Amino acid sequence: MPHTLTTPRLTLRPWRASDCVPFHHLNADPRVMEHFPSTLTPQESDALIARINHHFAHHGYGPYAAELKETGAFIGYIGLYTPTFEAHFTPAIEIAWRLAADHWGRGLATEGARAVLHHAFHTLNLASLVSFTVPANQRSSRVMEKLGMICRRRTLLDGIDSVIYGIDRGEFEQRGWTFAGR
Ligand SMILES: CC(C)(COP(=O)(O)OP(=O)(O)OC[C@H]1O[C@@H](n2cnc3c(N)ncnc32)[C@H](O)[C@@H]1OP(=O)(O)O)[C@@H](O)C(=O)NCCC(=O)NCCS
Repeated sequence: MPHTLTTPRLTLRPWRASDCVPFHHLNADPRVMEHFPSTLTPQESDALIARINHHFAHHGYGPYAAELKETGAFIGYIGLYTPTFEAHFTPAIEIAWRLAADHWGRGLATEGARAVLHHAFHTLNLASLVSFTVPANQRSSRVMEKLGMICRRRTLLDGIDSVIYGIDRGEFEQRGWTFAGR
């Protein structure tokens, strides 16, 4: 059973069947999918959940379902994923996030991702993590920077112009965060 992580405002937990419909809405929103090739159909959204659950079963970690403690609402995912394409930095583990647009701009992605970094380095004993996005996705690269991730390179990933950020355990420790969650 994968871990559940908590932060002051979020529970990061395994996925439930009740997450499917709000995840359909989230993936059908052009604001959320602005920097991806297209929005997702409900079938594509369900297939993504199946891949996420498979990832958890195979690795013991993955992109956690993010739930707002205050309301119990499912608002997206924050967690770890193993990229399947080849690049100069693979094999690697990615930290990734996707939240419903109504919840942006309140520091939730950064808060949840900080708990994931802590879990990755202190419980899973991973050595380093990467994150990447297109240069235009400044919301996402801003989250990477707030986490203390360092922009290592700008390059083509799977043919797409991308910025690659990274952080290793030592760089994470240097941030010296006193982490309120567990
Ligand atoms: C990326 C995402 C997870 C960020 O979630 P969030 O909870 O709003 O993130 P945070 O509030 O922790 O931080 C967002 C930062 O981006 C900044 N920001 C917001 N809009 C911005 C813009 N247009 N340009 C530059 N920075 C922007 C915010 O000001 C904030 O930085 P600050 O704290 O220094 O002010 C969310 O926008 C999302 O789900 N996007 C769609 C999916 C996606 O692109 N996922 C990433 C794929 S790589």
